[in-house]
Amino acid sequence: MRALITGAGRGIGAALMAEGRGRGHEVLGTVRSGDGIQLEVTDPAAQARAAGAVGAIDLLVCNAGVLLDRDAGVRDLSVEDLRQTLDVNVTGVFLTVQAQLANLSRGGRIAIISSQMGSSTQATGRTMAYRVSKAAALNLGLNLASALRSEGIAVGIYHPGWVRTDMGGSAAAVGAEDAARGLWDRFERLDQSTSGCFETFDGQTHPI
Ligand SMILES: NC(=O)c1ccc[n+]([C@@H]2O[C@H](COP(=O)([O-])OP(=O)(O)OC[C@H]3O[C@@H](n4cnc5c(N)ncnc54)[C@H](OP(=O)(O)O)[C@@H]3O)[C@@H](O)[C@H]2O)c1
Repeated sequence: MRALITGAGRGIGAALMAEGRGRGHEVLGTVRSGDGIQLEVTDPAAQARAAGAVGAIDLLVCNAGVLLDRDAGVRDLSVEDLRQTLDVNVTGVFLTVQAQLANLSRGGRIAIISSQMGSSTQATGRTMAYRVSKAAALNLGLNLASALRSEGIAVGIYHPGWVRTDMGGSAAAVGAEDAARGLWDRFERLDQSTSGCFETFDGQTHPI
């Protein structure tokens, strides 16, 4: 497959690049600085430039994301953090898919990296901006699965595990390489029969 991964400079995105290449796929990655396709996911002009630079792909992985309001509650969540979180984690995913649709054809796949924290079963009331954004990314993925079914494009939504990255922290349960291995297993199985799935990296169906 020829794949594009957003936010590939570090963390899960970097591990997904390495794992995909190790499996023999051609994997391109976007970054905000340094080597790679330059992409700030919230910038429509940058999205258009990236789409032109990338060309035809079989798989798009919307991985870039932020967690800005760790443990914040209803009284201490700032409007800036709420807006920025929704901009990157929801609008950024939508703009990425919209721009890259020209590069995907029938049989193409889109993977959205959401989180178990976006599940309505985990609405704990803390880290609310992140939870709301990941719930929206999950719902966006479900809508995209419906919208793109007639075009033969499959959409999967994934929880990568609690992963040891800058975001997940050093106490997290899963190494980035293990998360990437499990996620690639999911991507390789994604087709029309599994489109609209919400799965963990290790293949469990997660409640929406
Ligand atoms: N780690 C976990 O336990 C965990 C659990 C569930 C879900 N997730 C999800 O998995 C994905 C990757 O997480 P991670 O742990 O690898 O996070 P990370 O280590 O913080 O890396 C985040 C990546 O997203 C990129 N990014 C952030 N904002 C961006 C923007 N506006 N435009 C373009 N790229 C942007 C970053 O690029 P820069 O280097 O330029 O900042 C970086 O490559 C995220 O969507 C996250 O919500 C992670």
